[in-house]
Amino acid sequence: MPLVNAKEMLTKAKAGHYAVGQFNINNLEWTKAILLTAQELNSPVILGVSEGAGKYMCGYTTIVGMVNGMLNELNITVPVALHLDHGSYDGAKACIAAGFSSVMFDGSHYAIEENIAKTKELVAICEEKGLSIEAEVGSIGGEEDGVVGAGECADPDECKMIADLGVTMLAAGIGNIHGKYPENWAGLSFETLEAISAKTGDMPLVLHGGTGIPEDMIKKAIDLGVSKINVNTECQLAFAAATREYVEAGKDLQGKGFDPRKLLAPGFEAIKATVKEKMELFGSVNKA
Ligand code: 13P
Repeated sequence: MPLVNAKEMLTKAKAGHYAVGQFNINNLEWTKAILLTAQELNSPVILGVSEGAGKYMCGYTTIVGMVNGMLNELNITVPVALHLDHGSYDGAKACIAAGFSSVMFDGSHYAIEENIAKTKELVAICEEKGLSIEAEVGSIGGEEDGVVGAGECADPDECKMIADLGVTMLAAGIGNIHGKYPENWAGLSFETLEAISAKTGDMPLVLHGGTGIPEDMIKKAIDLGVSKINVNTECQLAFAAATREYVEAGKDLQGKGFDPRKLLAPGFEAIKATVKEKMELFGSVNKA
């Protein structure tokens, strides 16, 4: 099946009280592992690409070519969206031109008026081209591609203003952070999430920083209107740990263990296991 935008899968998730996972990709192994797991579990999935990862993978058109090729060669029939993660205004336009099916415009670091103006322009372009679009209010904490957010809680009235522009999904800061959570993390602010949900109604809400959030908090967030959950660091940690184990066991020195197809296999399997665990937790299994 060709790429789809994220609208239908998220509308269904919101109505069905589960969430679709966005898993960020970094290379061929990552992409293949996520697509195969989604197919095996009959789950919809969103492939996330940050601007940094976009550069690393030789640009957006390379990624579109790789993903479309895999959908075809691997006979992927579950709904797959290819989504720009935390895009700039120019980055979003470049991804739209390259053939992505979904973009995020992260205008959370602008004053709300500028965030609204830029989001509005991109909503019109996405509507015309049939893409889904995610906007953000209240920056997500932690570091992503060198951008460090403070982890604020979004203002529910500002969320309503952005939701009313016609975005497909809305990311709102509720105390979540990218990367590993610190020991003294206060947890998600369900009070903020409830207030945002009450103001934005049917709008699918997005929870960034999915790595390391305790399961009970994930479930409660889904109950309160979260329909998309982003996971990146957890796949990286799983990949690194499995690769380390392989090398530390000296397996790269045995036979042809240095062949990248062997060297990267444990990390590939570790990503598959992580994605499976998340899809089961988010409730998206058999929802394709
Ligand atoms: P983590 O790296 O914390 O899982 O966050 C991913 C994310 O939110 C991507 O936008």
